[in-house]
Amino acid sequence: EPLTLRPADTSLGGYPHYLIKEIHEQPRVLARIARERLDGARQLADLIRHSYGTFLVGCGTAGYAALCGSYLFSRIARRHVNAVIASEFKYQEHFLTDRSLVIALTQSGETIDVIEAVHAAKRRGATVAALVNVTGSTVARLADFTIPLSAGPEQSVLSTKAYTAKLAILLLTAHILNGSEHVGLDTLWRAIEGMEMALAPATLDRIRAVADRLVDAQHCYVIGRGLSYPTALEAALKIKEVTYIHAEGFAGGELKHGVIALIEDGSPCLVFSPLDETRADILSGAMEVRSRGGWVIGISPEPDEAFHVHIPVADVGDASPLVSIVPAQLLAYELAVRRGLDPDKPRNLAKSVTVK
Ligand code: G6P
Repeated sequence: EPLTLRPADTSLGGYPHYLIKEIHEQPRVLARIARERLDGARQLADLIRHSYGTFLVGCGTAGYAALCGSYLFSRIARRHVNAVIASEFKYQEHFLTDRSLVIALTQSGETIDVIEAVHAAKRRGATVAALVNVTGSTVARLADFTIPLSAGPEQSVLSTKAYTAKLAILLLTAHILNGSEHVGLDTLWRAIEGMEMALAPATLDRIRAVADRLVDAQHCYVIGRGLSYPTALEAALKIKEVTYIHAEGFAGGELKHGVIALIEDGSPCLVFSPLDETRADILSGAMEVRSRGGWVIGISPEPDEAFHVHIPVADVGDASPLVSIVPAQLLAYELAVRRGLDPDKPRNLAKSVTVK
């Protein structure tokens, strides 16, 4: 395959838009991380091990990567790592000390809210680590320790490959902390294969059929639990950013606390249901939606009677967030194209938000 990840490569490489090009680059980005970022992950694991309080901060998609990281560290490394939206960090920084570790997640390294969180951390003597795509960016220069995502230029306003790159590094780091580095690497390679499958024509056909049906939808609901809760939030963000359809991501358990009131005949609902401990509960939620007339699209390794449409994804264990998000990215892209919108430049959005 042609190497399209060189820093200078800003061409479309035969794709109609950067968004679809960057979605397809993900397996190669992750393979590079598996080969070249193990040392970085080991050093990050050391910093976490020696910190007293670790915080993952980011905005938008990077904020959801932070939340996913918190779930990964909990289940894999049995370690509590806080996830905070960067713009909220200043209201939660009071307990930072010189033993705290703040890990900034940012594609551009120029997001003002992330930069301010980094300054706040430094003022209190905390150590700052960063997962950054743009080397030489402000956050990369301010951090005590940086792991470059090496995802190549991300030109679409929507973040895709930088998201899964961050998740891959956090997955490896959690496994290293747990003393299971080999398992982490194996899992990452399985996820890379799973991503290839999610990008294959058979899967795309199903996604296109869903897009045909959703093209004029006004609302779309997305649910997941555990590791798939941040996936639900990120999937909804992708859909709203690029299609302008009102998409809401929820923790599956919250359905009964209000969300279910929104479901009416034909309401589309995306359900993330990997083969983990969330499965029985999320499927029962999906059934609740279906029995109230909702149209249920299941993204899962296995079919289920709750699904009207099943989009199969590989079973990749703890790496499910890396793989399950791909069909949602593709769905957002397919919807944007059908709605006649520019997938690379959604209205009102900027690639990096450098002013308050
Ligand atoms: C903007 C973009 C989002 C991105 C966020 C954080 O809002 O539209 O796609 O996730 O900034 O950007 P960063 O460069 O810090 O990852």
